[in-house]
Amino acid sequence: MNKPKNKRKAPNMDSPIRLGVNVDHVGTLRNARGGRHPDPFLAAQVAAEAGADIITVHLREDRRHILDADVSRLIHESNLPINMEMAATEEMASIAITNPPSAICLVPEQRQELTTEGGLDVVRQLPYLTKVIGSLSEAGIKVTTFVDPDEKQVEASLNAGANAVELHVGNYCESYDRGHASENEFKRVVSASRYATNNGLECHAGHGLNYGSAAIIAKIGQITELNIGHFLVGEAVFTGLGDVVTKMRSVIDLARTS
Ligand code: PXP
Repeated sequence: MNKPKNKRKAPNMDSPIRLGVNVDHVGTLRNARGGRHPDPFLAAQVAAEAGADIITVHLREDRRHILDADVSRLIHESNLPINMEMAATEEMASIAITNPPSAICLVPEQRQELTTEGGLDVVRQLPYLTKVIGSLSEAGIKVTTFVDPDEKQVEASLNAGANAVELHVGNYCESYDRGHASENEFKRVVSASRYATNNGLECHAGHGLNYGSAAIIAKIGQITELNIGHFLVGEAVFTGLGDVVTKMRSVIDLARTS
């Protein structure tokens, strides 16, 4: 494999793991009826009080859950950093540059998908993504790429100028949920996370995490941030969002320190 052009200093491995709470599906529920209830902004406040470090929202092209007004309010009024997931389109880049969140996570997006179904193919789109990342970085926004746990995608992300990668751990989580956690998928995540941090990229993980799989992924010392949404909002129906976020916080902190 070619050496990445853009080697930076490795981040500190001792840092505790950050919890990004994705409130998209609070918006899904609200939009099912129109109106304002339940409000993703209020969910973000509850999550912040319960121990979230970051609020994550995906402004999708079809606005199926989070709306422009949600993003704007969160950026201006939330006490926590806002991580905005978005497709690498001109429309989205312009929204982000006009009203900058703390961080952007670039994701692939197809209109018909139920959720983000795979990582971004940074290798294939390197020149285009280098341009998009360059313009977001110039606006002072930290840029992450959401990629499969594949060293080639991590390397391309580094070369495109990203600050961090978020590893798509969906395959691992699915295997975990089926009761046969895939050792092979886990090894891919470990190896991609090592490759990222050895080359100076921050490494995050997300997609499909629940208490059990998050406890396992949080043990990987190179991973400094988890972004979790569907499970937290789903569980909140039974026990309340505050309790769920508090529990996830303690699950990942415990995994990290034991
Ligand atoms: N990270 C990214 C980049 C995502 O696209 C998503 C899904 O919106 C998540 C994390 C959260 O995944 P989940 O809702 O399965 O926890």
